[in-house]
Amino acid sequence: MIENLFSLQGKTALVSGASSGLGAYFAEVLAQAGAEVIIAARRVEKLDELAGKIVANGGRARVVAMDVASPESVELAFQAIDAMTGQLDILVNNAGISTKPGRFVEQEEDIWGGLLDVNLRGVWRVAREAAIRMKAHGSGTIINTGSIYSLCTGIMKTDYNVSKVAVAQLSKNMALELGRYGVRVNTLCPGYFASDINAAEFGTEKGREYIRKLVPQRLGEYRELAGPLLLLASDAGSFINGVALPVDGGSLLSPI
Ligand SMILES: NC(=O)c1ccc[n+]([C@@H]2O[C@H](COP(=O)([O-])OP(=O)(O)OC[C@H]3O[C@@H](n4cnc5c(N)ncnc54)[C@H](OP(=O)(O)O)[C@@H]3O)[C@@H](O)[C@H]2O)c1
Repeated sequence: MIENLFSLQGKTALVSGASSGLGAYFAEVLAQAGAEVIIAARRVEKLDELAGKIVANGGRARVVAMDVASPESVELAFQAIDAMTGQLDILVNNAGISTKPGRFVEQEEDIWGGLLDVNLRGVWRVAREAAIRMKAHGSGTIINTGSIYSLCTGIMKTDYNVSKVAVAQLSKNMALELGRYGVRVNTLCPGYFASDINAAEFGTEKGREYIRKLVPQRLGEYRELAGPLLLLASDAGSFINGVALPVDGGSLLSPI
């Protein structure tokens, strides 16, 4: 039935980086579509707040502490998740950080490494744990949060850019390997959306000027990510595997 195409009734979804910004919104959308959501991040008090909101709106939410940069923390989190649910159907692998924009030649190794620890190794780590479980079960969908920087170059953001290109490639390699086991892996590539990650950048006149030069001439609104997220998370997207889907109002069409 067409009206049930995007339904997530009976599904369990894990969202990493759910304590703020896009991840918190993704968790609310998945819960509204019927999924039980397990929300993960380091700031557990924020997760508790979000879980309360989801439950107050009639949804189901569980909280798990997880630092994606720590193998031990991810292992413990998945032990907790295994105890919470027999089956993980959806992973939105969304935790990510940015660093202060700067030229490549000025970048310091520990800053570069710290970003990759979260945006690449962390994404890999969580994806792998979920994939092991989904493969054993014979179904699942993984949505890695990329960026338009998964699909283009970005001046002053080499570390972030490289991490997001790598995330899109990781998704494709995973899709290639796991497709035959009923597991789909795609990358959702948002354009610019206001959040803590870019508040400093877009809070300035220079930042606002930059946004005005984009094809959509504005930031995206969170609600504009709901449809693309549900497409990749639900059976509506059952034949979509290994794609990197930009949701950017066409920002990628015109380099600034
Ligand atoms: N906003 C945009 O315009 C935009 C565009 C494209 C892509 N993205 C991507 O969207 C994702 C979410 O970013 P956002 O914009 O929503 O920014 P945000 O509000 O800063 O959210 C980042 C999330 O990642 C979590 N996180 C950071 N480090 C972590 C770690 N070591 N372990 C576990 N969780 C960690 C944070 O939770 P804790 O601090 O509580 O751990 C937080 O929930 C990121 O991958 C980002 O690259 C954002």
